[in-house]
Amino acid sequence: VVKFMRLALYEPDIPHNLGAFIRLSAGLGVPLDVIEPCGFPVDDKRIRRAAMDYYDLATLVRHASWAAFRRDRPPGRLVLLTTTGAQRLPDATFRPDDILLLGRESAGVPPEVHAAADLRVRIPLQAGARSLNVALAASMVLSEALRQTSGFEKLA
Ligand SMILES: C[S@@+](CC[C@H](N)C(=O)[O-])C[C@H]1O[C@@H](n2cnc3c(N)ncnc32)[C@H](O)[C@@H]1O
Repeated sequence: VVKFMRLALYEPDIPHNLGAFIRLSAGLGVPLDVIEPCGFPVDDKRIRRAAMDYYDLATLVRHASWAAFRRDRPPGRLVLLTTTGAQRLPDATFRPDDILLLGRESAGVPPEVHAAADLRVRIPLQAGARSLNVALAASMVLSEALRQTSGFEKLA
């Protein structure tokens, strides 16, 4: 059985970030789950415009709510990226079917989502820096997770 890493976005606020995630998903062949509601109007036409020609290469699954995502998501650990994570990225061990969950730009995730995660990973930052852009945080962790799990091997 081939296992796939996934990215999941919790209620994103900023359309350009969603566009960046679609491009990341398309480029690396990593399916993307979008947990709605988003902080901007979402319809397939708008998503297509944000994603440009990357849309067709990306695998994007929309979920109406956190509850719907929890019901429908594939198996695999839920790995939350959070500035309050106990697990520092350089010490984290990933599995090939992990779902990397990103919080919303304005507020991260609520306590129930935090509690539902199997692992909470933090990218260490220098003193005084609060957080990274959500898409950049995702790409740092995704890169390390794919590297550890031979996820780059299917790519050219
Ligand atoms: C701009 S940050 C959220 C900031 C928000 N005010 C908070 O306190 O959570 C958006 C998302 O990017 C990810 N992120 C940003 N910096 C991170 C870091 N240093 N470690 C892990 N995830 C990070 C997290 O998923 C976070 O929910």
